[in-house]
Amino acid sequence: MADGRPVEGVYLSGALDLEALFGRYFAAHSDRVRLRRPEEIERPEEVCFALTWLPTADAFRPYPNLKLAASIAAGVDSIVHCPSLPADAIVTRVRDENQGDLMAGFAAWQVVWHHRNMRFHINHQMRGEWARRNVDDYIPPRDCTVGLLGYGFMGKAIARVVTAMGFPVVAAVRTAPPEQANGVTFEAGEDAILKTAARSRILINVLPLTHATRGILNALLFSAMPKGAALVQLGRGEHLVDEDLNRALDSGQLAGASLDVFSREPLPPDHPWWRDPRILVTPHQASDCSPVLVAAQVCRAALDVVAGRRPETAVHRANGY
Ligand SMILES: NC(=O)c1ccc[n+]([C@@H]2O[C@H](COP(=O)([O-])OP(=O)(O)OC[C@H]3O[C@@H](n4cnc5c(N)ncnc54)[C@H](OP(=O)(O)O)[C@@H]3O)[C@@H](O)[C@H]2O)c1
Repeated sequence: MADGRPVEGVYLSGALDLEALFGRYFAAHSDRVRLRRPEEIERPEEVCFALTWLPTADAFRPYPNLKLAASIAAGVDSIVHCPSLPADAIVTRVRDENQGDLMAGFAAWQVVWHHRNMRFHINHQMRGEWARRNVDDYIPPRDCTVGLLGYGFMGKAIARVVTAMGFPVVAAVRTAPPEQANGVTFEAGEDAILKTAARSRILINVLPLTHATRGILNALLFSAMPKGAALVQLGRGEHLVDEDLNRALDSGQLAGASLDVFSREPLPPDHPWWRDPRILVTPHQASDCSPVLVAAQVCRAALDVVAGRRPETAVHRANGY
C-alpha cells in the first residue's frame, strides 16, 4: 500500500470456498486490498494477510511474510492452533454488534423452549390437538436461573436479553466480577464453571474453544447441575463430551439439550441426535457475521498491520481467543 498498490491477501480454508462467499464484498475495497486463491498467487512473498477459516495444517507455509490471519467469524480456534501459522502473525476475529443481537435472540428462544417445554406444543400441533398447560406446570421465570459459561461479547449480549425476560442470570468469570453487573450475578475463580452449573436450570455455553475449555461440558459438570436441567450448547462442538450428554439424558439428570455446534459439522444425516426428541438440533445457526462487515473489518486490519498498528479486532494468541 505504501507504493500505492493494494495489500496482497490470500483465501485459506480447508472447508469453505471463501472467494465465493466473500469475494464480492471485498471487491468494494479493491483499491486497498487484493484477495486471491492460493493457485492464483505468483509471488507468495508479497502476501501480507490471509482471510481464513479452518485452514489446513500447512496452509500458511508458502507465505513467509504473512502478518495477519483474519478469521471470518468470532471464533479463531482453528487458526491459532494451526501448526503453519507464523509465530509473529496477528490473528483477528470479527466483532459484529448485530451478531451479538442475533445470538441473544437465539439463546432467548432456547430458554423459552426449555423453560416452557415447547416440544409438547409442537407434538400436539402435529396431531391437531388443542392441549393447554397449567401455569403451575412451569417454574416461575424468576426462580429459573439461567447460567452462562463465557461472559464475553456473546455472553453479555445474551445476559442483556435473558435478564430482561425475567430470568436470573449467573455467569462464570475467571477474574474479579465486573462492577457493572446489570442484574447478572457471578461465580468467580477456579471452580466458577462448576458453581455456575450447580445454580443453572438452563445452562448456556458460549465459551471459546481453548485447551482449558475442550471437553468442559462433561459428566462432572452435568452431575453438578440440578436434576432435570437443560443444556444449550452454542460454543464449539469440542466443548461437549457427546457420550456424557447421552448418559445424562438417559439417566434423567438432564431433561433436554439444544445443540447448535458439533465436533463434526455438518452433523451426519444418520446421527441419532437428529431424531432424539430430547434434543433440539440446529446447523451452527445461532448467529453469523455480516459479510459486508467482515470485509470492512478485515480490510482495516490488513491496512493496520502493514502500517505497524495492532488491529482493534486482534485476539490474544496465547489465550487462544
Ligand atoms: N454458534 C454460533 O453461531 C456462534 C457464533 C459466534 C460465536 N460462537 C462461539 O462463541 C465463542 C465466544 O464468542 P465471544 O465473541 O463471546 O468471545 P469473547 O468475547 O472472546 O469472550 C469469551 C469469554 O469467555 C471467557 N473464558 C475463556 N476461557 C474461559 C474459562 N476457562 N473459564 C471461564 N471463562 C472463560 C473469557 O473470559 P476472560 O474475560 O477471562 O478472558 C471471555 O469473557 C466463540 O469463540 C465461538 O466459539 C458461536
